[in-house]
Amino acid sequence: MGMRILGWGTALPDKVVTNEDLERTLDTSDEWIVDRSGIRERRIGESTAALAAAAGRKALERAGVEASSIDLLILATTTPDQTVPATSAAVHRALGLAGGGFDLNAACSGFVYGLVAAHGLLATGTRRVLLVGAETLSRITDWSDRNTAVLFGDGGGALVLEHVPGEGQLLAFDLGLDGEAREILMADVGGTIQMDGREVFKRAVRVVVESAKRTLDRAKVRADEIKLLVPHQANIRIIQAACDRLGIDRERAAIVLDRTGNTSSASIPLAFADAIDSGRLEDGDLVLMTGFGAGMTWGSALLRWQDPGTGTLPGREDGSHDD
Ligand code: UT7
Repeated sequence: MGMRILGWGTALPDKVVTNEDLERTLDTSDEWIVDRSGIRERRIGESTAALAAAAGRKALERAGVEASSIDLLILATTTPDQTVPATSAAVHRALGLAGGGFDLNAACSGFVYGLVAAHGLLATGTRRVLLVGAETLSRITDWSDRNTAVLFGDGGGALVLEHVPGEGQLLAFDLGLDGEAREILMADVGGTIQMDGREVFKRAVRVVVESAKRTLDRAKVRADEIKLLVPHQANIRIIQAACDRLGIDRERAAIVLDRTGNTSSASIPLAFADAIDSGRLEDGDLVLMTGFGAGMTWGSALLRWQDPGTGTLPGREDGSHDD
């Protein structure tokens, strides 16, 4: 049993905050931010539920399926709109979904955790899942702290996933957590993000490379066979270091962080959708998603891309889907 991707969608708030905007209130510069992180601007505003619903709605439209055909909503977020109920309840209501729903917090690895959770549920009887990563990190950012304020942004990204007999599109994965490192990146309830940037950077490169390698090994795939790397969008230097150590050309990485900043759970689906919409993938291409985040969590997933609108989808010889 496996899963396949039926549709994808993204959402970003309208308000753009450029590095020049931040120069006006912080002791920083566009040059420093671009040089040290690769970020040029970020989007800010709306609620996590609104961004999640907007991305989810587009993914449903792209998939061509009714909201009422969704059995389960998984919302990966570290910035729920309130403690109780889960933000997925508001998204479920806004979209008119059927079935269950829950929030998942694995920090910036959340979308990969959600993908693996969805895969397991689709393999055991759930027919269709809407998986969303959405964040409003601007609400937990200390806008007077130059160490963190220049890095984060808001956004959402979603996939519609469907059960298929046979292997499907998720070929291998790796998830991990090192709770010893939980204090290097954290926010208390009601507080703002506190981060030891250098320590996160060092560990991030290591865990991403190790996790990606384990995933490739499990699928018996070589790094040079990867057509598209979809890394967590935290820092261009982390992505480049990971590419170099893995032996994946830097040009093969999907990058949106220059326009979005670090959007935590939303960053991998934003980068993935951007690569699909830019025509970077052909049927059969191998895609490696890999993320890391507070906890410290990490997660990688190896997928075989298949355009849902063309060709033969894994598990369905005629490429059909039921609705
Ligand atoms: O989703 C996971 C979230 N987090 C991450 O992935 C973050 C990982 N870490 C990083 O991306 C990088 O460590 C940063 C971008 C946060 C910082 O880059 P860095 O090259 O590691 O800089 P640094 O922390 O070593 O700081 C270098 C200097 C320091 O000044 P001194 O001590 O050398 O005088 C900082 O105070 O840069 C200073 N600095 C800044 N200067 C201008 C720190 N932030 C800024 C800033 N503008 N915004």
